[in-house]
Amino acid sequence: MDSAALREAEAEKTTEFPIPAGCFAERVTSVKHYTDNLFAFRITRPQSFRFRSGEFVMIGLPNAEKPVFRAYSIASPSWDEEVEFFSIKVPDGPLTQHLQKIQPGDTVLMRQKSTGTLVNDALTPAKNLYMISTGTGIAPFASLIRDPETYEKFDNIILTHTCRDVAELDYGKELVTALKDDPLIGELVEGRLTHFTSTTRETSPVMGRITTLIENGELFKALGTEPLDREQDRVMICGSMAMLKDVKALVEKAGLKEGSNAEPADFVVERAFVG
Ligand code: A2P
Repeated sequence: MDSAALREAEAEKTTEFPIPAGCFAERVTSVKHYTDNLFAFRITRPQSFRFRSGEFVMIGLPNAEKPVFRAYSIASPSWDEEVEFFSIKVPDGPLTQHLQKIQPGDTVLMRQKSTGTLVNDALTPAKNLYMISTGTGIAPFASLIRDPETYEKFDNIILTHTCRDVAELDYGKELVTALKDDPLIGELVEGRLTHFTSTTRETSPVMGRITTLIENGELFKALGTEPLDREQDRVMICGSMAMLKDVKALVEKAGLKEGSNAEPADFVVERAFVG
């Protein structure tokens, strides 16, 4: 038996249900809970699983004949040996009510094909790349800020993360701190990655929705940069539907054009998926 078949056989042993066709059955290697509503976890990576940093994939649990699958942005970079996800916990969520209980050693199903528009390929090169996120919308950027390709294409990376409460910012803060000491890309990141955070409910040093902070110029004042400009800025946006719509309107107002895999341009958007 080759290693993939062996792993599948092992996974079968731990579940009562057959692994659906077109799925990998992977083992949970770690779980970290950040708040009552947020957690991150890592699973083993199948050798044949290839993806571009910033893409999403469907994941589920082997707990039914026809398991529920939800789209999850991959939070780890494409070179990582494991696959990381950052998730909300929805009390009655068809998937997350179960997913939030996973432990190391459990099995998670992952469809074999990943896709998405929040990829470096969908943007043309420029001086600055703004990654604008709310809530779990930081996940694809957790992947992209760990990918050397992002630093090859852009001089400065500005990751903005806005949440209701301070503790919800912890995943991103931990990530950015760890990145600076990373043996692989720590040097690349030095002086080129800015992490801007704000909260909208709990008091913190910077408060306000990112839309407000873009509109009133406070974001650019805090960063010491000029307002959005098509010549030098590119933007990636990930959050709730309402947030995407509002940020997109501001970015378009600044004259930026939406890009895609087929036609790279100035900005791209993707919904932070909820399950
Ligand atoms: P607010 O607290 O003012 O609603 P959610 O958990 O609802 O997705 O929100 C995550 C973060 O995104 C919150 O800080 C929230 O602010 C903010 N947010 C929600 N809707 C929008 C929007 N339309 N534009 C910008 N930020 C938004």
